[in-house]
Amino acid sequence: MKPKILVTRATFPEVIDYLSQQLEVEHNQADEAYDEAELTRRLQGKAGVFANPTHRFTGELFAACPGLKAVCNMAVGYNNIDVPAATAAGVMATNTPDVLNETTADFGWTLMMAAARRVSESEHYLRAGQWKKWRYDDFLGVDVHGSTLGVIGMGRIGQAIARRSIGFNMKVVYHNRSRLSPEFEAAANHAQYLALDDLLRTADHVVLVLPYSPASHHLIGAPQLAMMKPTATLTNIARGGIVDDAALIAALRAGQIAAAGLDVYENEPAFNPDFLSLKNVVLTPHIGSASGPTRVAMAYCAADNLIAAMTGQRPPNLLNPDALGH
Ligand code: DGY
Repeated sequence: MKPKILVTRATFPEVIDYLSQQLEVEHNQADEAYDEAELTRRLQGKAGVFANPTHRFTGELFAACPGLKAVCNMAVGYNNIDVPAATAAGVMATNTPDVLNETTADFGWTLMMAAARRVSESEHYLRAGQWKKWRYDDFLGVDVHGSTLGVIGMGRIGQAIARRSIGFNMKVVYHNRSRLSPEFEAAANHAQYLALDDLLRTADHVVLVLPYSPASHHLIGAPQLAMMKPTATLTNIARGGIVDDAALIAALRAGQIAAAGLDVYENEPAFNPDFLSLKNVVLTPHIGSASGPTRVAMAYCAADNLIAAMTGQRPPNLLNPDALGH
């Protein structure tokens, strides 16, 4: 008898085939939206779940699904899983680190540069047929090269973003829960650790790459935006909720900062519609890791974690080793 698992959302068909070699798979290739009750119902009798950050895994859900032994996220972020509750319930939780570092770092730069150089705004102008003549002061932006990059959250993706700044002759400042070792700071373009407020006052381009947690909720709100330079940009490729979106809209509208690049939002896929009225924001739908090879690698990484968990092995990316003691 193969262990039974649920794949909560559509994924690559070859990954469904791969999982099916060792597991009995119920999939959702129609990509139906399962609410909490439906998810709970479908998880009855399942030992594992191939999950996605769009579903929340709470203590209540674990209590309602006593057969569940592993939740394997196809994402590096795992704020959708209550990990302490999973541990208490003896449920292994896993994520997909590393395979997306470089692709997500590329995208952080994409958004930062698009915001700094007004790419979306000028493209909309062109598409709307408004470009009638060239002007010396059309869409003047702010420079990226030679400026100061501020990285908030200096994990693996943050360090990959910092490394890219070497080619742009930039200075790097960073803020993180803990300071990096001198070797890691040197590899990250000699990044200098700063307190959050000092970073916000110093950086020309602030990029958010930290995990969401109650401690990082609204880390960037009105007081923090007020500390930033009027020529600065803010890029969020981390999670919605780290930025107070209403405060950011007010700051962008008032010209308190120059521009923002956003891939994540509070309450996504819904988002504050006031963003749409602003020209100085570049908006993308949570695609930071979305290159073909990287999304495939993430799916196989999640699948390998799940197969390991279901076949008595330790999953390579286990977040809560204490769950094994249950
Ligand atoms: C991640 O891996 O956490 C990305 O944000 C996709 O959800």
